[in-house]
Amino acid sequence: MTRVLVSQEILEEALEEFDGTGIEVDLRRDHRPLPAAELRAAAADYDGLICLLTDRIDAEFLAACPRLRVVANVAVGFDNIDVAAATRAGVAVTNTPRVLTDATADLAFTLLLSTARRVPEGDAFLRAGKYTHWRIKQEQMGVDVFGATLGLFGLGQIGRAVARRARGFDMTVLYHDVQRLPAEDERTLGVTYVEFDELLARSDFVSVHSPLTDSTRHRFDAAAFAKMKPSAMLINTARGPIVDEAALAAALRDGVIAGAGLDVFEREPEVDPQLLQLRERVVLLPHLGSATGTTRREMCRMAARNVRDALSGKRPENLVNPEVADRIAAPGERP
Ligand code: GLV
Ligand code: GLV
Repeated sequence: MTRVLVSQEILEEALEEFDGTGIEVDLRRDHRPLPAAELRAAAADYDGLICLLTDRIDAEFLAACPRLRVVANVAVGFDNIDVAAATRAGVAVTNTPRVLTDATADLAFTLLLSTARRVPEGDAFLRAGKYTHWRIKQEQMGVDVFGATLGLFGLGQIGRAVARRARGFDMTVLYHDVQRLPAEDERTLGVTYVEFDELLARSDFVSVHSPLTDSTRHRFDAAAFAKMKPSAMLINTARGPIVDEAALAAALRDGVIAGAGLDVFEREPEVDPQLLQLRERVVLLPHLGSATGTTRREMCRMAARNVRDALSGKRPENLVNPEVADRIAAPGERP
């Protein structure tokens, strides 16, 4: 019997993808991740795993699950998975790209607008019964988004979708990435490549859209904030650890930069208490980037199809480690 474990509650409808395959699927009906040792024990006898980014899939986990042949992350990012270890173990790793691009770009723009125009503060002001005159005070005013300069750190699918949205706001769009786009694509997208320091120095809004890697971890630290304009705002819908959260809280408190809109944090679901205390021009969301009904449904279905295909000897659509592709065609015990 081929068996799949779903580590945390996902949309049950997605499991229809396994109909008629004979693959048995166990869905854990809990929204909380299992501690590492419990996850290892729970997954020990399964051939496939559907997991979330709060599950850590490392060498120790893989060694404890000798039957495992595929790990499908219900996320586009896969920094929670040691892909090199999975490849060494012959385990396929898959993610859910594209289906969440527009929802995440929408949320990045929502955060940018909410932070710039201080939407949560206005809402709280009104609900507190303080909306007694039309005029608000100078110190409650926001800043203009239209015509401002947006700096994108990372220009993958999501960064590009944000660049397209920025055009509608007549923004100047700069970007920095390890890879530069061909000049033709830069023109079509209306973006200009700059070095990291120039991105920091020129942008009114800096929005993070890179994966979390050894080279992006804490890229936004005290030194980076010092290079930004005192009026600038940082938007992060990518991964928390790309930003040094303690340094960010200090930069906001000391007026080194003006604001931040954050959907991701260094130690989710924990949020630095210093950030929680900052209410002016700081907007904090509980990792909602892909959280629309339609997008999450597509992500869950995509992860289920990836596992189904890998366990049926077919190359999954969203294989992250193609090095294992030839081993997928030969189901059975892992080498
Ligand atoms: C969400 O953070 C994702 O990587 O899909
Ligand atoms: C704003 O509501 C205006 O009329 O200027």
